[in-house]
Amino acid sequence: MANVIVIGAQWGDEGKGKITDLLSRSADVVARYQGGVNAGHTVVVQGQTFKLHLIPSGILYPNTECIIGSGTVIDPQVLIGEIDQLEELGISTKNLHISQTAHVTMPYHRLIDQASEDKRGKHKIGTTKRGIGPTYADKSERVGIRVIDLIDPDGLKQQLKWAVEYKNEIIHKLYNLPPLDPQEVIERYLAYADRLRPYVVDSSLKINEAARQRKNILFEGAQGTLLDLDHGTYPYVTSSNPIAGGACVGAGVGPTLIDRVIGVAKAYTTRVGEGPFPTELTDGIGKELGDRGAEFGTTTGRRRRCGWFDAVIGRYAVRINGLDCLAITKLDVLDELEEIKVCVGYEIDGEPCHHLPSSSRQFAKCQPVYKTVPGWQQSTADCRKLEDLPKQALDYLKFLAELMEVPIAIVSLGASRDQTIIVEDPIHGPKRALLDAQGLPV
Ligand code: GDP
Ligand code: IMO
Ligand code: MG
Repeated sequence: MANVIVIGAQWGDEGKGKITDLLSRSADVVARYQGGVNAGHTVVVQGQTFKLHLIPSGILYPNTECIIGSGTVIDPQVLIGEIDQLEELGISTKNLHISQTAHVTMPYHRLIDQASEDKRGKHKIGTTKRGIGPTYADKSERVGIRVIDLIDPDGLKQQLKWAVEYKNEIIHKLYNLPPLDPQEVIERYLAYADRLRPYVVDSSLKINEAARQRKNILFEGAQGTLLDLDHGTYPYVTSSNPIAGGACVGAGVGPTLIDRVIGVAKAYTTRVGEGPFPTELTDGIGKELGDRGAEFGTTTGRRRRCGWFDAVIGRYAVRINGLDCLAITKLDVLDELEEIKVCVGYEIDGEPCHHLPSSSRQFAKCQPVYKTVPGWQQSTADCRKLEDLPKQALDYLKFLAELMEVPIAIVSLGASRDQTIIVEDPIHGPKRALLDAQGLPV
């Protein structure tokens, strides 16, 4: 048995949904531990596409328990929509469980997220406008409403009346928007509570009981390392902790339970929203990557900014998450390029900079130092073993693994489950064998 965390090693949208779905065949439990409906995880199975925002990507396996953990924030309307959509497609949600201590996104959170982004003008974050920041802010301010409050009708009526009146002051006085009707919000949320009540559990208890029974638990991160509130490219981050450490806090488990951490990274880099992005390509190649990779946000439909692979960020993700191995996705998107650049370091004002700067002003000054490698200019979409790959593609992967000093366990060459090379089973394969196999330092 092994308990594994799957995290995004870049700015989100690395393909965590695909990798989690793939690994879920060996998992008994899959738990989301942070984030909310800002996430959009795409899973493609036998030509059918599933876009998941809150429900863990293990839901497509009929016997896998799926848990939305305490560290998440739940928008009931979106969650119910997601449940209904899956049921309509014949996917049962009988194994879905929602933490009673997760916080609930309210209509005023969405309103405030949208209005504050508008008010910030050129200082905006470029959020998904799903109310994520304001929901987590209320949690920290200790005025949030949790799932346990949602499903207690009398308590909810009292709490919501006060909360809506309190938020109406902000909505009206600060943003000059029409106030919300407390009664309408109460009635709507009482109805959501009736729908969600059967799914509510003590999620930490459930996960820890599964661990005691020596079941395989997969912790599915949302967003990515550089969007982490504490360790990402602040202030252009989300309001939770997507990094591996966040899994323990958000799922309510001790660090001793975790056996392995897998980082998912694209073979290039993308970012949605504002903020510095040293390897961004604003030329034709950036557009080509975006078109070939269908780089449009799963949640908001926004075009993702594209750029070369950045090994400074990669090494940072290895450090912050304690990565054991990598899943490199979307290698196929590079198939047609004559040559490929990889950022091996930065320069600030002509001086070398080996580590990610903490200041966003400094980060904005970083000029990438590139190493150019040859492309392979042939399709990799049908490769199923490392030996099937063109030599230049294999060399590219080895180069990334050397730069990051961790082995690559999985290579993804397309959106569907089978378009994958499993170099070494990251759940059951021994760590040392993985490292030895690629001749990398232990
Ligand atoms: P997540 O948020 O990390 O789960 O990633 P998203 O689902 O938002 O974005 C990844 C996109 O790339 C999705 O549309 C996936 O179906 C797709 N995808 C995943 N892996 C691959 C791959 O190896 N090649 C290609 N071409 N597409 C992929
Ligand atoms: P998945 O799980 C990519 C980005 C937003 C914005 C910043 C803050 O699909 O990888 P927020 O709405 O969270 O307050 O926005 O974070 N962002 C994501 N970018 N993938 C995501 O999720 C993201 N979730 C949030 O674009 O820059
Ligand atoms: Mg996504």
